[in-house]
Amino acid sequence: MRLSIFGSGYVGLVTGACLADVGNDVLCIDIDGARIARLQAGEVPIHEPGLEAIISRNARAGRLRFSSSASDGVAHGQAIMIAVGTPPEEDGSADLSHVLAVARSVGEHLQGYRVIIDKSTVPVGTADRVQRAIRDELLKRGVDIEFEVVSNPEFLKEGAAIADFMKPDRVVVGTDSARALDLMRQLYEPFTRNRERLVVMDVRSAELTKYAANAMLATKISFMNELAGIAERVGADIEKVRLGIGSDSRIGFSFIYPGAGYGGSCFPKDVRALRHAAERAGARTSLLSAVEAVNSAQKIILFERIKDFFGEGLAGSNIALWGLAFKPNTDDMREASSRVLMDALWQAGAHVRAYDPVSMNEARALYPREIASGKLVLVENAMKALQGASALTVITEWQEFRSPDFDAIKNALAIPVIFDGRNVYDPALMRRLGIRYFGIGRGESVRSDFSAELG
Ligand SMILES: NC(=O)c1ccc[n+]([C@@H]2O[C@H](COP(=O)([O-])OP(=O)(O)OC[C@H]3O[C@@H](n4cnc5c(N)ncnc54)[C@H](O)[C@@H]3O)[C@@H](O)[C@H]2O)c1
Repeated sequence: MRLSIFGSGYVGLVTGACLADVGNDVLCIDIDGARIARLQAGEVPIHEPGLEAIISRNARAGRLRFSSSASDGVAHGQAIMIAVGTPPEEDGSADLSHVLAVARSVGEHLQGYRVIIDKSTVPVGTADRVQRAIRDELLKRGVDIEFEVVSNPEFLKEGAAIADFMKPDRVVVGTDSARALDLMRQLYEPFTRNRERLVVMDVRSAELTKYAANAMLATKISFMNELAGIAERVGADIEKVRLGIGSDSRIGFSFIYPGAGYGGSCFPKDVRALRHAAERAGARTSLLSAVEAVNSAQKIILFERIKDFFGEGLAGSNIALWGLAFKPNTDDMREASSRVLMDALWQAGAHVRAYDPVSMNEARALYPREIASGKLVLVENAMKALQGASALTVITEWQEFRSPDFDAIKNALAIPVIFDGRNVYDPALMRRLGIRYFGIGRGESVRSDFSAELG
């Protein structure tokens, strides 16, 4: 099939690469000319494990090409996918300007029947708006060309996006057109060979399904974080509780890790956008509001612990930070907990020495002023972050942080103390090693008298 994909970000590139890999002829479009130039030169602008190899083998085979021409995109694909960003507006609603801009381009250049597939995460009713935007442009041109708009939300996870796309749990397709459904079945057939994975429904239900999935996962995380706060105050260990409830098949182990809050490009904005849309529709949103409130509080919890521990001594001190990405195996720092922590530390007069295996370029682009002023020092390995630091903070659970040289950590830090935002380390081991340890929900909260020990 000839396919065009508008938006060459995390979703668009993975989708394009995977669809080319099964034999389709794919053209990826982006308005960011520099991004397209890098892709055309064989560079992959994002970090996603396995993506580079798939892109390069399909580009070599001529099945995957990149362009910044919208008209070429509309002309090329029998199906046109919209995979552009839907960032949050000030009020929390989803910004649909990029999606609607693609729709208008489609209307401007459409010459024959096309299926327009909406992969971006969009509020219920967006497919109707896309349809209207295309139709308006056709009207302006004085032409009547048949097209259909299908909702096909994407559920891939950054860090495991290739496997998620190649072996999806399900493929949600929202359409009431048999012709469009035929095309969707053909498109996904290579990924659904061992069993039927298409879940077909009306467009509005498909649009809501994506928000429902992310809101459910965010709810699980906030639930565990609220429970972590209870565990701390009653002297229980949330990690034991996690094992105790996760083994219940009705609950399961996924997304019940307590920690320093969820971030990323999806959960925060999608929960907010769903709440906003629900409120506009007059529906109750007490649970969604609570999920957000718990998460906002959780993102600052590590800072509060550090502040309690150091008291006035925090100003002027260096804090080592392991991890910048919102989760391991990605360079994405959108709404990452590391950013909330760093902002709070800077506000309190502390400096940050940070290391992340893949997000350093991202951090350089986001914090040029903080780097220039010395508030943020980016170092090339984990141990270097500890030089001259008063404490170690872990905020992204990268594999390489799991079993560090604790003696070296102890020797490098002014006070051997670890603030563990992802419960990576064992509190009993830390006690044996003589390292002060603060995790999330593990029975020991900072008491103000600790700061007295600092003299
Ligand atoms: N990142 C994820 O893990 C994930 C997972 C599932 C769904 N989603 C959803 O998919 C959508 C895309 O997310 P992303 O993370 O890939 O975004 P992204 O920001 O990484 O990429 C979006 C790309 O679209 C481009 N773009 C903007 N307007 C354009 C236009 N008019 N024509 C062509 N290109 C244009 C931008 O330049 C950018 O490169 C969002 O709605 C998101 O919520 C994301």
